[in-house]
Amino acid sequence: MRAIIPVAGVGTRLRPHTYTLPKVLLNVGGKPILGHILDALIAQGIEKATIVTGYMRKLVEEYVRSHYKIEVSFTKQDESLGLGHAIWVARKTFDSEPLLIILGDTIFDVDLSVLKKSSISTIGVKEVEDPRRFGVVVMNKKGRIEKFVEKPQDHVSNLAIVGLYYISHPELLRGCLEELLKKNIKTQGEYQLTDALQLMKDKGEEFSTFPVEGWFDCGKPETLLNTNRYLLDKYSSNISLKEAVVVPPVYIAKNAIIERSVIGPYATVADGATVIDSVVRDSIISDGATVTSSLLESSIIGNNAYVRGNFNRLNVGNSSEINYG
Ligand code: UTP
Repeated sequence: MRAIIPVAGVGTRLRPHTYTLPKVLLNVGGKPILGHILDALIAQGIEKATIVTGYMRKLVEEYVRSHYKIEVSFTKQDESLGLGHAIWVARKTFDSEPLLIILGDTIFDVDLSVLKKSSISTIGVKEVEDPRRFGVVVMNKKGRIEKFVEKPQDHVSNLAIVGLYYISHPELLRGCLEELLKKNIKTQGEYQLTDALQLMKDKGEEFSTFPVEGWFDCGKPETLLNTNRYLLDKYSSNISLKEAVVVPPVYIAKNAIIERSVIGPYATVADGATVIDSVVRDSIISDGATVTSSLLESSIIGNNAYVRGNFNRLNVGNSSEINYG
């Protein structure tokens, strides 16, 4: 099985961080989003991948080449014309071997062995309350997908497509992507993968679904912090420091400098970061960032950023109330 990971997007919702780093290289729970994705694939025996790069592609390639030994092909998407277009760009790297398409801004905690046994294409789904932001699937009575609908405005289904697609007939997918582009079929201005899947379905491909409970989006600041919390809950180990109080779960890189501070719960302090005289919780302090004299919560501090707060000097009379909240 080959994994196709599209990571070409600009990541506008994560600006300003994505002005200087591609979204997939943002640190969450102690390593880049892409690192979590590749480690999970490797752990499940998938050792071949195509990464569709675009925005800041050199940084993505450098990261993968210097950290991973698996067989990776990089293909370039010059313009973000949609997920369908991103997979079309990768078409030369896949043949008849089944594909696993996995979005580059989502971390999954899911056992892929069910897919390896599947002879038909299978789409990862999760029930959501408001499906209007997602592609959804409508099921038939036999438990097969009847229809794919991209961002439905009228209610047709609550089963959202989470960004994990197992494609058992990649050649048919390739043909349908060609058709999508040739006929210029776009939804909401983009070549959508869901439209190509619907074309596959129309040509007789059968699709089933598999439930994905462990689905952690990294596309927005608040979801990145949620995912950080999930990863720390799952992977953090006990750390004690001489000059700081650590409230688990946390990730603190070995070469981070922490002095007179309280770190955690749910804090990631990345390589070469410095935290002095501060309290940091539910936050990500990225590589080489410095935080001094600050109380931080629900914060994302970018690589090499510098945050300096201050201590208040108060002369407060009896029965007064000072509230900074
Ligand atoms: P998103 O639309 O969520 O990512 O696509 P984005 O465009 O980077 O983010 P925003 O909306 O501007 O904040 C989901 C995944 O598909 C990839 C993205 O890189 C991301 O990993 N993608 C999307 C492509 O590679 N090419 C595209 O044309 C569209």
